[in-house]
Amino acid sequence: MRIFNAIRPLKKDEKIPYKLLLLADPSKELIDQYLAVSTLYIAEEAGVVYGVYVLTPIDSNIAEIKNISVDESHQGKGIGTLLLRHAEDTAREKGYKTLIIGTGNSSIGQLYLYQKMGFEICGIKKDFFIINYKKPLWENHIQCKHMILLSKTL
Ligand code: ACO
Repeated sequence: MRIFNAIRPLKKDEKIPYKLLLLADPSKELIDQYLAVSTLYIAEEAGVVYGVYVLTPIDSNIAEIKNISVDESHQGKGIGTLLLRHAEDTAREKGYKTLIIGTGNSSIGQLYLYQKMGFEICGIKKDFFIINYKKPLWENHIQCKHMILLSKTL
């Protein structure tokens, strides 16, 4: 619960934690595009940022988590789950009815986590990672080609 309370929006004068953002999305260009229209939330303890998520409005009813990331040394300790819950609560409080999240076809662990958290597959952006990323991306011995979209009713 202490960690949960430590999640807050990044202030305008604070440094953008690109290292964490780039773990979830290797394109700084795309990150900068969505940060311009989003709110970046950070999980910090003693001044160290160990997790982030980016909440982006899509329309008046739908918000999207464009990026969620936990520092490698802190992964697998439940922080990602807390960030997802925080994102759901925040989006609900802001009046959104649906929260969406997208991940690569090769991101098996992420697909597991999001579905376990109640998100359901609702679409696919074919060849998204081939069209939008300069280098081929591979994960779990699978080429990351398509974005799998998942949604949750809030
Ligand atoms: N591979 C395998 N299992 C995973 C993975 C993974 N990459 N990520 C989460 N899980 C599983 C955990 O094993 C755990 O399972 P359990 O509940 O059965 O024990 C469950 O998901 C919850 O794990 P948490 O500890 O809450 O998640 P964590 O703090 O590690 O955060 C996250 C998950 C954010 C995906 C983190 O692993 C991470 O930062 N990964 C690198 C960046 C990334 O891929 N971000 C998501 C890209 S998609 C997007 O940003 C919209």
